[in-house]
Amino acid sequence: MPAPDARHPELLAYRAEFPLLDRAVYLNTCSLGARSERSRKRLESFLADWDELGARAWYRRWLGELDGLRDDFGSILGVPGDEISLAPNVSSALAVIASALDPIHRGDQPSLDRLSAAGVPAGSGPRTRVVTTALDFPTIGHQWLARAPLGVELVVVPSTDGVTVDLGAIAAAVDERTALAAIGHVFFTTGARNDAAALARICHERGALLLVDAYQATGIVPTDLSGDEIDIYVSGTLKWLFGGPGMAFLRVRPALREALVPTTTGWFSSARQFAFAVDELALAPDGRRYELGTPSVPSAAIARGGTELVREIGVERLGERTRDLGQLVIGLAEAAGLVVRAVRDAEWRGGIVPIAVADPKPVVDALAGEGIIVDFRPGIVRCSPAFYNTEDEIRLLIDRLAARVARGDRAFS
Ligand SMILES: Cc1ncc(COP(=O)(O)O)c(C=O)c1O
Repeated sequence: MPAPDARHPELLAYRAEFPLLDRAVYLNTCSLGARSERSRKRLESFLADWDELGARAWYRRWLGELDGLRDDFGSILGVPGDEISLAPNVSSALAVIASALDPIHRGDQPSLDRLSAAGVPAGSGPRTRVVTTALDFPTIGHQWLARAPLGVELVVVPSTDGVTVDLGAIAAAVDERTALAAIGHVFFTTGARNDAAALARICHERGALLLVDAYQATGIVPTDLSGDEIDIYVSGTLKWLFGGPGMAFLRVRPALREALVPTTTGWFSSARQFAFAVDELALAPDGRRYELGTPSVPSAAIARGGTELVREIGVERLGERTRDLGQLVIGLAEAAGLVVRAVRDAEWRGGIVPIAVADPKPVVDALAGEGIIVDFRPGIVRCSPAFYNTEDEIRLLIDRLAARVARGDRAFS
């Protein structure tokens, strides 16, 4: 069983930066990462600038902060900040992308030719389908279900084990009718990680695009977007970026910008934003072309506290520690007779470890009463230790969880 605290003792010092960790055994980062003091300081600076400068804060500070945040996201993912598009949440980013796919669904030949020129041999004819999986986050499916009246069809690949989705099944579902496969980098309930490079190969061989929903991966799964694999990457700050609500982002592979022209848009996407021309729409040549309206600057300030930490520690180290702690959860839970529904190979896991409990809500509520915060989904207790948790906290969780279940409060499924 791993000894995470011995492997990365230096990371324990960061606990002092997170006030929540003094108040609770917090093992729910997959829902919401804890807030660091860096985020509080950055939010206070935002407020001070507002009081001191009023609207001048836009030009003197805030537009620069937004660029800084784009740079932060870019540096975490190996690409320049001007390839990043800010969004208030992943759903909005997906809505922008969905609007850009409409011509491809219709089979508009110039759009298909532009895709082919960008290395996605889309051929000819309508591509009405979008492929996702049964384990993906609902907003992925909803974007394209909402387009059913336009003739778009959502294909949902099932999971046979309830934890992973077989690559072969995805390969069988993606065909010459597919515009896009939209799949999580790490599944939000089971924590299973998908092979983005293999997914990209499957999609590109069939002339389809790949969208990766990396919300449960960014910050713990080292990812370099500078290659040609992932066409569209969406993520946000709530979880493993420790950046709170209100900020998400999108990155479209630059070679695809001419092929993917959004019709859901806003003035932050304009090439000449400050010309204020109501009768002109020229989309920005860089990542801003997929943005909408005024971003939430306080959210950006809070988010930058998190991205600063992630860049300082590094995704590699954060991922190692997160998976070490997850492995400890698995080992202790199984030793206590609990049923773990996670991938065993740490390399193919994100930060979530689901433990089977038939009726998890009362168990999770009771643990919260004891100061241990975890989460649940139907049939499972979701534990998600982050780099700031300790071995002792995990021992306590498993001890209390096993006792609750053993007492017959709730049976395993
Ligand atoms: C995998 C995944 N995608 C998306 C979201 C959230 O989407 P949105 O930013 O639209 O609320 C979450 C969690 O909230 C998630 O876990």
